[in-house]
Amino acid sequence: MLRGGLPVALPTETVYGLAADALSPEASAHIFEAKERPLSDPLIVHLPSIDWLSRIAVPSPLAITLAETFWPGPLTLVLPRQASIPDIVTAGQDTVAIRMSAHPVFQEVVQTFGKPLAAPSANRFGRISPTSAAHVMSELEGRIGLILDGGPCIHGIESTIIHVLEDRLQVLRPGPITEAELRAFAPVFYGPAGVTAPGGLKSHYAPRTKLVIEQKPRPRGPRTGLLSWSQSGEGFSQTEFLSRSNDLREAAANLYGSMRRLDEAGLDLIIAEGLPESGIGAAIMERLRKAAA
Ligand code: TXA
Ligand code: MG
Repeated sequence: MLRGGLPVALPTETVYGLAADALSPEASAHIFEAKERPLSDPLIVHLPSIDWLSRIAVPSPLAITLAETFWPGPLTLVLPRQASIPDIVTAGQDTVAIRMSAHPVFQEVVQTFGKPLAAPSANRFGRISPTSAAHVMSELEGRIGLILDGGPCIHGIESTIIHVLEDRLQVLRPGPITEAELRAFAPVFYGPAGVTAPGGLKSHYAPRTKLVIEQKPRPRGPRTGLLSWSQSGEGFSQTEFLSRSNDLREAAANLYGSMRRLDEAGLDLIIAEGLPESGIGAAIMERLRKAAA
């Protein structure tokens, strides 16, 4: 199907992606169509191997060091592009977002295909990212021809995206690779400067049910759900526990599945308990704030 220019949903270590030939504008167009994604929102390009890096982008020495350190893995680098990447993939920007997935199934597919795959998360635009094949089915059934089931995603939230500047790193989206890990290579900052991640839209990752964040959640009315970090769930009509052992990585892996179950439970309100913002906790809280926006 990939060779025929069609999109296929594939597991990665972060979330499921909807993949297609990144060097074919027609194949990449299918991704936008299936997701109802605006053409202004560029795709991440996933490489079969690191030697593709300089065929797709113009990597600085700092970018090469980061790639060699963190790939394959959940880090996406935004770099100046080469002309080999179609405009539809970069949404006409002069940069391209690139990563290499560590998932063995993804790796086998992309290496057998032998060319880079463009792959955004396999959800309809603005919805919760899928962390299992069943989630992809509920998002895209009838719109795509194949979902490859590789089991649940280990990280459960999307890759960290950084814009690599000359001597600094700009975090465009926090994720499994933490600020502390990146600081070992260059100063890290957040916020606007030339490049914007359209996924930085305030209301991304949205459940349909109203969601609020509280430090000490108390039920409001009979149909209140709790997304719990440490609370018992007493008095709530449904509770999802992110990690019973207070492990932030486990909480990240469970986040989207738990949000999805609460969203499907016909509640009036979901209260998410605030988590500590250390390490990957910062990325989890960023997703919760977007879900609440
Ligand atoms: O973990 C992940 O990154 C997953 C898996 C499937 O690899 N992919 C993913 O893709 O989350 P997506 O498209 O859902 O989110 C990628 C984000 C989007 O917000 C997009 O706007 C931004 O990356 N992006 C892509 N190219 C960019 C560029 N050249 N400059 C700035 N932001 C870019
Ligand atoms: Mg996405």
